[in-house]
Amino acid sequence: MIIELESASCFVEDRQVLRAIDWTVRPGEHWAVMGRNGSGKTTLLNLVNGYVPLSSGSMRVLGRRYGAYDWRRLRKRLGFISSSLQSKLYDGETALEIVLSGLFSTIGLYDSPQKKDIARAGKALESLNCGQLAPQRYGTLSQGEKQKVLIARALVSAPRLLIMDEPCSGLDIFSREDFLSGVHELGKGPSPALIYVTHHTEEILPVFTHVLLLKAGEVHSAGAAASVLTAKNLSSFFGMRVGLRWRNNRAWLEIK
Ligand SMILES: Nc1ncnc2c1ncn2[C@@H]1O[C@H](COP(=O)(O)OP(=O)(O)O)[C@@H](O)[C@H]1O
Ligand SMILES: [Mg+2]
Repeated sequence: MIIELESASCFVEDRQVLRAIDWTVRPGEHWAVMGRNGSGKTTLLNLVNGYVPLSSGSMRVLGRRYGAYDWRRLRKRLGFISSSLQSKLYDGETALEIVLSGLFSTIGLYDSPQKKDIARAGKALESLNCGQLAPQRYGTLSQGEKQKVLIARALVSAPRLLIMDEPCSGLDIFSREDFLSGVHELGKGPSPALIYVTHHTEEILPVFTHVLLLKAGEVHSAGAAASVLTAKNLSSFFGMRVGLRWRNNRAWLEIK
């Protein structure tokens, strides 16, 4: 199993943010997670990463049980990207250097990389169809290209699980499509397992096999994408009547 949460609850600053979450991510599955602002999506990801503690229930990630394994060690096998990471990196470095820094888990490249590291970083960029960006300075890339470089940076250490927290926030629709094409490439394979948090149903590409809907810290519904992404279920989730229009196997939400 990639992730197993059983009745997992989480308190942050004395407030219960996640309530009795049951969630299983099996090998070969890619999950999208949706929920209104403040529903606990980021907290759920932080829980999986071990950045916030589990208050009750149980959690296993990549087969390791929370409380019985060193999560700092586990984190080396997890990739994590969010839009806030983007602004922390150095504009003057090349895309290749940014990707290489992922091998050392540093912001900025301090260690001298070996030839095989450079080859690995180049391959990570190529796997997202952006090998040509390698020599370009990070500061000169488009937002969508920057996000793809961040994925490559996360991929270079071969994680088994890649978590993306609203990676398209702030991207214009063209940059977003550019970025999503990278996610599509990545999702064609079984590894890494992808967890993708978004507010927008149309970002849930066909490579996402499953969807989790979080509402006020609880699971509203979770399961195969086709069964969760229905007008009826989403209307119940949002508490208002919504419709879905399917185009290219992506669902566009409309308020009725
Ligand atoms: N460090 C924190 N201190 C206090 N409250 C927090 C903290 N982190 C999250 N919360 C609260 O937990 C709830 C869920 O937050 P979050 O997981 O960031 O939601 P989402 O990512 O779905 O928007 C929110 O009500 C938020 O105010
Ligand atoms: Mg969030």
